[in-house]
Amino acid sequence: MFKIILAAFICGSLSLSSVVSKSDWWEDGSFYQIYPRSWKDSDGNGIGDLKGITEKLEYLKEIGITATWLSPIFQSPMADNGYDISNFTNIDPIFGTLEDFDALLKKAKSIGLKVILDFVPNHSSDECEWFQKSVNREDGYDDFYVWDDGKDDPMNPGKKLPPSNWISIFNGSMWEWNEKRQQFYLHQFLKEQPDFNFRNPKVHTAMLEVLKFWLDRGVDGFRIDAVTHMYEKIYENGTYPDEPLSGTTNDSNTQHYVKHIYTQEQYETVELLYEWREFLDDYKKQNGGDTRILLAEAYVSLDSIDQYAGNGTHLGAHLPFNFDLTSINATSDARDVEGFVHNWMDRMWTKHQMANWVVGNHDLKRIASRVGDDLKDLVNVVLAALPGATITYYGEEIGMVNVDCNGPCSDTRILGRSPFQWNDGISAGFSSSPNTWLPVAHNYKKVNVKIQRGVASSTLNVFKGSQKLKHTAAFKEFKDEGGFSYGALNDNVFQIIRGKSRGEYRVLANFGNKVENIGQLFTKAMKDDKNIYEYALVTSHSTHRIGERVKLNEIFMVPYETVVLKKINN
Ligand code: NOJ
Repeated sequence: MFKIILAAFICGSLSLSSVVSKSDWWEDGSFYQIYPRSWKDSDGNGIGDLKGITEKLEYLKEIGITATWLSPIFQSPMADNGYDISNFTNIDPIFGTLEDFDALLKKAKSIGLKVILDFVPNHSSDECEWFQKSVNREDGYDDFYVWDDGKDDPMNPGKKLPPSNWISIFNGSMWEWNEKRQQFYLHQFLKEQPDFNFRNPKVHTAMLEVLKFWLDRGVDGFRIDAVTHMYEKIYENGTYPDEPLSGTTNDSNTQHYVKHIYTQEQYETVELLYEWREFLDDYKKQNGGDTRILLAEAYVSLDSIDQYAGNGTHLGAHLPFNFDLTSINATSDARDVEGFVHNWMDRMWTKHQMANWVVGNHDLKRIASRVGDDLKDLVNVVLAALPGATITYYGEEIGMVNVDCNGPCSDTRILGRSPFQWNDGISAGFSSSPNTWLPVAHNYKKVNVKIQRGVASSTLNVFKGSQKLKHTAAFKEFKDEGGFSYGALNDNVFQIIRGKSRGEYRVLANFGNKVENIGQLFTKAMKDDKNIYEYALVTSHSTHRIGERVKLNEIFMVPYETVVLKKINN
């Protein structure tokens, strides 16, 4: 971030008229995650694709988006829906071709939309050529992955046991025996996802080449997958220490059986992030253009996030995701949200002047299913009113819910990945085929873009309105200029104040199921405030209309009402 000082010459002398913080595009950007299988199917095979995305990109501009992050589109056998990549520099035929991707980028650039790709450096698919070469100990690939002989099995002479007791994130041992190579390989996720060996410089080079390949095509940055899992502890004698038992479960097959102190958040990860950041910054220096950015996926403590962002000497990820708000559910109240906001702002904003707000992604239950119908709009408005970047998971802007699991469902994460609901037609306008890879959610006749466009206080229009406000001058005033404050007025009502010299807005969000006399909750100074406020945004719960005027001490809020008020005079 840099500051621009606006100076004015008055009577021949230089005086500071105002100090304006100018932010780089990503700092207060509106990000939107597209799950490509589910956004728009252009060829009627029931699976979303790149041409479909290109066709609909303008919709993202309509709703105020700065950048879209695409979940993996690379060649993959799809054991983990694309997070198992077999070729890092090609597009999977399900999604299209490199030419389709170039066309998507061209279109995005023509309408001023940035494109972020998913970068999955922790592992490849077991069908990746690099892994096959490693299995065969081909020159240059012998140590590309984490291999180990394992331990002798005292009970079965000649047999081998895994090198350590590590349990993978998707359960079962993190070590898989490979008959051909006669060694175990490490996989933090599925056995079809062997982990790269980042202690091998050749792996670093290969990953930088991957980044360069996509940067040269014109992408604006990367979301780095599974940052926490990049390194594992290894002793100097080449052995791997067992992880201590967690004591929380007796099931030795589940990931929570052990505490992941040697397989997650190892210190080398931080250096890796700094390496990639330096690479991106150098790329910009050499090639010009806007900042290419790194988003980092890591469900870790703020201590680690702090390191991931930078350490004073080195910079890391521009936006390590803030996952605090992913724990919001139907019982969350104003004090919970105040706590979440405080956690981040007090530490990360103060130190790195950076914030971002995430409530969902393709691994989580959808926010509208977590908080319920009454609170989904409130969440969208509150997020947009906070300083920094918002990251919207496709469908949050219309209140999409998880699909029902008909029958056994081995990976419940997919229930939040159903086809996007464009209209009330066949397959919700996602595909011309009635057979889509996942069923469309039951409520698509009512919850869809087409219908919501026509209803003033629909979830979509509230989302659009709040994103519009987010990009006004008042909302861009930063905390150090006094342009931001927030807090719970009681257990139910959360307040955010944005802007000062460039207009002042007050966001009020009632999490509770009862009427609140807001006038009574304000301080004496506020009660005496004679200013007039105008309703600038209302949700469907509100009994007010946009443009209506009110004084602070006259405000009542009905259950779950969320409003934005604009101060209109002094
Ligand atoms: C995190 C991704 O978000 C998730 O979907 C995937 O299964 C794992 N990383 C493994 O790549």
